[in-house]
Amino acid sequence: MGLPTGSTPLLTYARLIELYRLGKISFKNVITVNMDEYKGLDENHPQSYRYFMKKNFFNHIDILPQNTHFLNGMAQASDMECSRYDTLIKQLGGIDLQIGGIGCNGHLAFNEPGTSFETRSHLQRLSEETIKANSRFFDQEKEVPKEALTIGLKTIFEARQIIILATGKSKSQAIYEALLGPYDISCPASLLQKHANALFICDSEAASLLPQDQLKNGFSLKPSSY
Ligand code: GLP
Repeated sequence: MGLPTGSTPLLTYARLIELYRLGKISFKNVITVNMDEYKGLDENHPQSYRYFMKKNFFNHIDILPQNTHFLNGMAQASDMECSRYDTLIKQLGGIDLQIGGIGCNGHLAFNEPGTSFETRSHLQRLSEETIKANSRFFDQEKEVPKEALTIGLKTIFEARQIIILATGKSKSQAIYEALLGPYDISCPASLLQKHANALFICDSEAASLLPQDQLKNGFSLKPSSY
């Protein structure tokens, strides 16, 4: 599984923990790769994504720690770290199920607008918009790292199944652009218009700009129509 961080998947993780505690699911045979990590934050930093995953998910389920994988934001040579991660994902046989959130500017993982759809793991300079949005987790905006390591859009696209979660009004424009805007790097999530098995799960606010008459039974785009 490819896994995200952010506030959006918190309820998903809580529900999965609950199902685990009820004995309905087990993660013993699950291998995870997280999507991204801030450059310069180590695993003990409360805002590092590795810390987030342990605190909100992994510490509460039966996943084997050696089966959870992350980009290392502390690696000296980011390019080598990114190659290591891409090789690892390849060796694991790719991603079966990629779960993701979406940024207000349409970013997936930390692939900001303008990132090529062909990218693999790379060091990404964060946009002002993303730094601002993520500053709510830090004491001060200046503490938000300016760069992050992220898996690339090509790797996300190669996942066999993709689920994107979006909640709240602040995501409505990104959801509209992703589904009905042009297939273009200006909205990284529009990449998924061509994916055969991508599902967007949105609350009514995030879906508020989509054609409401078509939403009743789920809004469906056929990749073949592009
Ligand atoms: C961050 C993460 C993304 C996440 C997005 C939305 O920048 N890198 O993976 O999907 O922001 O976060 P949230 O769910 O908190 O709105």
